[in-house]
Amino acid sequence: MSVVPPHLEALEAEARHAVAEASSAQALAEVRAGFLGRKGSVSALLRGIGRLDPSERGAAGAEINRVKQRIEECVAARRTELKSGEQARALSEHRIDVSLPGAGGGRGHLHPLTRVRREIEDFLWSRGFSLEEGPEVETEYNNFEALNMPAHHPARDTQDTFFVASDRVLRTHTSPVQIRAMTEREPPFAIAALGRVYRHDLSPRHSPMFQQVEGFVVGRETSFAELKGLLFSLAEHVMGDGVEIRFRSSFFPFTEPSAELDLRCLLCAGDGCVTCSSTGWIEWGGCGMIHPKVLANCGIDSREWQGFAFGMGLERVAMLRHNLDHIRLLYDGDVRVLEQL
Ligand code: PHE
Repeated sequence: MSVVPPHLEALEAEARHAVAEASSAQALAEVRAGFLGRKGSVSALLRGIGRLDPSERGAAGAEINRVKQRIEECVAARRTELKSGEQARALSEHRIDVSLPGAGGGRGHLHPLTRVRREIEDFLWSRGFSLEEGPEVETEYNNFEALNMPAHHPARDTQDTFFVASDRVLRTHTSPVQIRAMTEREPPFAIAALGRVYRHDLSPRHSPMFQQVEGFVVGRETSFAELKGLLFSLAEHVMGDGVEIRFRSSFFPFTEPSAELDLRCLLCAGDGCVTCSSTGWIEWGGCGMIHPKVLANCGIDSREWQGFAFGMGLERVAMLRHNLDHIRLLYDGDVRVLEQL
């Protein structure tokens, strides 16, 4: 007589069928419990072995365990099948066509002022200038006094100043960086500083905040000719070869002699327009030989050393390059405008 429980084969077939029918992970777990769980029918068979003759127990147990093993495998296979079916369903329900092109935005570009700034920095760096920064909130002393503009000096009127405290101003120009750098350093040196400056001023060419580049060189033999040559090549570097430049004698309390540097207005080709106030020229900045008093204020002996300095606006360059008739266009952040530049 066979030691195998008579209906073992049928039980296995029944299990296989139930497993195949299970249509979800939950249903499969229930089917599995019904056969293989603690109270399942296969487990009951295993418990029944105890009632067999001891000589038959081993073979019967082995046979039941083999069936148990096969059902277990069958359940595992069905589990995998169900899982991939669920994935496939999820994929087809929330369909994503990964082959479609992305929405991707267009490529941006640097702001026109950033480009001007970087080009000027590159140029000055290539000429041996080191780049420095100074604070935008300055002492009145660095912004005015040390630059030979004592209180009540009429030149202060030309730079309508924002005061943030009784002796603190939003710097009206980058020239106070000269004071900071020259006080800290022993000549010779060539230094440039680019940054924001503030004046109470508003017009097509002026905004209350704008940017300047300051450059200054102190050495034993610096000359006005050297200054002029440097500024002409800087103008060519940023405006291109055909640029027309004009040097005009002028006055600044911190330079002597002083000059102003004008660029030919490209908006009207020199004929005269609102942007250049009908002069055909656009003021770019000022320059000159550093005043001996300024050198003295920084502890530099003007009998031994001399220097030149210049300070120019960045916005004017961008305006001329892009034919902008109002400085506001550079600061409004209007993408429709910026995209065209
Ligand atoms: N700081 C001056 C201005 O803002 C420009 C300047 C700089 C002039 C250096 C001479 C020398 O108007």
